[in-house]
Amino acid sequence: MPDAALPIAASPETDILSALGARSIVLVGMMGVGKSTVGRRLAARLKLPFVDADTEIEAAAGMTIPEIFERHGEPHFRDGEARVIARLLDGGPLVLATGGGAFMREETRNRIAAKAISIWLKADHDVIMRRVRRRADRPLLQTADPEGTVMRLLTEREPVYRNADLTIASRDVPHDKIVEECIETLRVHLCGEPASKPPADVVSAVR
Ligand code: S3P
Repeated sequence: MPDAALPIAASPETDILSALGARSIVLVGMMGVGKSTVGRRLAARLKLPFVDADTEIEAAAGMTIPEIFERHGEPHFRDGEARVIARLLDGGPLVLATGGGAFMREETRNRIAAKAISIWLKADHDVIMRRVRRRADRPLLQTADPEGTVMRLLTEREPVYRNADLTIASRDVPHDKIVEECIETLRVHLCGEPASKPPADVVSAVR
């Protein structure tokens, strides 16, 4: 066989990268579902840059998210968030973890649909509650009844998160398992069934 015809060793990662082109992978979902942790590991697997939108917003504003909420209010934060995400999506491919409310803005959803593949990390309310209790820096949960607030936000947001291209169940398993599921789901979405899987007619022929 001439060298040029030798098959290049394909891996799920290289398949995903070539199918992505300049598009990014955007993680969406509620606070505490693991968007940043999973996103950072997913980016490392794909050898793509990882960016956390909340960190970028803080850098652009020169203050923390609680400070932005306190000094300027949520609408100001949301405008900044939309601008930062738009800018980041123009610089793909990268893996982008978004804040829990970002996908609620239609303009941001449309941008993500045009320039990225979105993954909803979906977690049950009790998993979210257990995780958000560990940090006190989320202004939306500084209420008399944080659990009730999470329930209300989930009810409002889940029908919108559902519009993401892909959904992965975030649960109490090692993060690398969730990353592995993201890789496999992305590969099937972008490239179709695994090459190693025999075609259906071969399967039926050997039955
Ligand atoms: C928010 C989630 C936060 C942060 C801000 C608002 C939300 O990000 O953007 O506190 O509206 O759900 P995480 O989802 O990374 O916690």
